Amino acid sequence: MAVTEAERSAMLRAIEIASNGPRGLNPQVGAVILSADGELLAEGWHGGAGTPHAEIEALSALTPEQTHGATAVVTLEPCNHTGRTGPCALALIDAGISRVVFALDDPGAISSGGAARLRAAGVDVASGEQADAARLLMADWLVVQHLGRPHITVKWAQSLDGRAAASDGTSQWITGPAARADVHRRRADADAIIVGTGTVLADDPALTARDGDARYPTQPVPVVIGSRETPSDAALRQHPHAPLFYRTHDLTAVVDNLRERGIQRVFVEGGPTLASAFIAAGLADTVLAYIAPVLLGGDRLALTDVGVGTIVDARRLQVDEWMPLGDDMLAIAHPIVESKGH
Ligand SMILES: NC(=O)c1ccc[n+]([C@@H]2O[C@H](COP(=O)([O-])OP(=O)(O)OC[C@H]3O[C@@H](n4cnc5c(N)ncnc54)[C@H](OP(=O)(O)O)[C@@H]3O)[C@@H](O)[C@H]2O)c1
Repeated sequence: MAVTEAERSAMLRAIEIASNGPRGLNPQVGAVILSADGELLAEGWHGGAGTPHAEIEALSALTPEQTHGATAVVTLEPCNHTGRTGPCALALIDAGISRVVFALDDPGAISSGGAARLRAAGVDVASGEQADAARLLMADWLVVQHLGRPHITVKWAQSLDGRAAASDGTSQWITGPAARADVHRRRADADAIIVGTGTVLADDPALTARDGDARYPTQPVPVVIGSRETPSDAALRQHPHAPLFYRTHDLTAVVDNLRERGIQRVFVEGGPTLASAFIAAGLADTVLAYIAPVLLGGDRLALTDVGVGTIVDARRLQVDEWMPLGDDMLAIAHPIVESKGH
């Protein structure tokens, strides 16, 4: 059966209320229950890992008489597995729901299959309604499902001759105010901001996202990787979020742990050793290189060893955009995976 006007508006409402839930380990999902004649009976959203899914929230507000023969409109395919909560597909069947409209297929290997289970139980199922809007809502979560880890942006600022600092280690500031404001805007969009101990000790960064003197309303969690101690009076200890310290060089273990904490987007801000280690490990989805018209010379290169011993192993990038920022230029790029040996 084609999606009705009432179901379409219910889906838009479900997408709207989904964002009441937190961004994190689980997707933001909204659900609306309609009576057989299209009247809105209840709504619910997912409040985060370990709490009831959106469909269950919405069903819980209703009596069995109300749910019997009703339609559930959900932004994501009802799940089919027992995790911390039971399968939603089963709960909908048990509640006597006769039709389910959802926007996006569940990409999870374990949790998918809810639509098939509903159909097998005789429930009428329609999928794909407002899929683009739902995909936009869950974009970061979907990327994490696809990559199996958070999305990683590696950023650095460099002189025209490819240096990240002057000979004495000072690097503030290589770029101008427009480039630095751009970095802060992008920091505010990230869930975590990562530096190595070398940068903490050299620059004492605050790792906040600032618009002039004011802090952006959302702040990335500061993360420091490396074995050396961060001083007790380091500026990042004043960050609104408690910093995370990983005393390891195992970047995969770090990003896995960040994922488990519900972090979906990370911003690696260096310095050169850490940025190079992320690139060498194939853990860079986006590269942001801010290039300033200044020459520093010396041996403080923007990148050190990225695992390229010979030119066929060069890490080729595709530039998605060259963006002028004041006197500086930003290259927004992503790695191209090339076949070797030609
Ligand atoms: N231009 C820019 O964009 C920019 C940005 C940031 C910093 N900087 C400049 O960069 C300089 C600091 O450079 P840096 O390279 O020392 O800083 P860094 O990359 O922030 O820190 C390097 C340290 O990170 C730790 N580490 C963690 N994981 C690692 C891994 N997988 N492999 C290797 N090391 C790992 C090691 O410390 P442990 O020994 O403690 O384990 C290592 O010595 C300063 O001059 C600073 O001003 C420039």
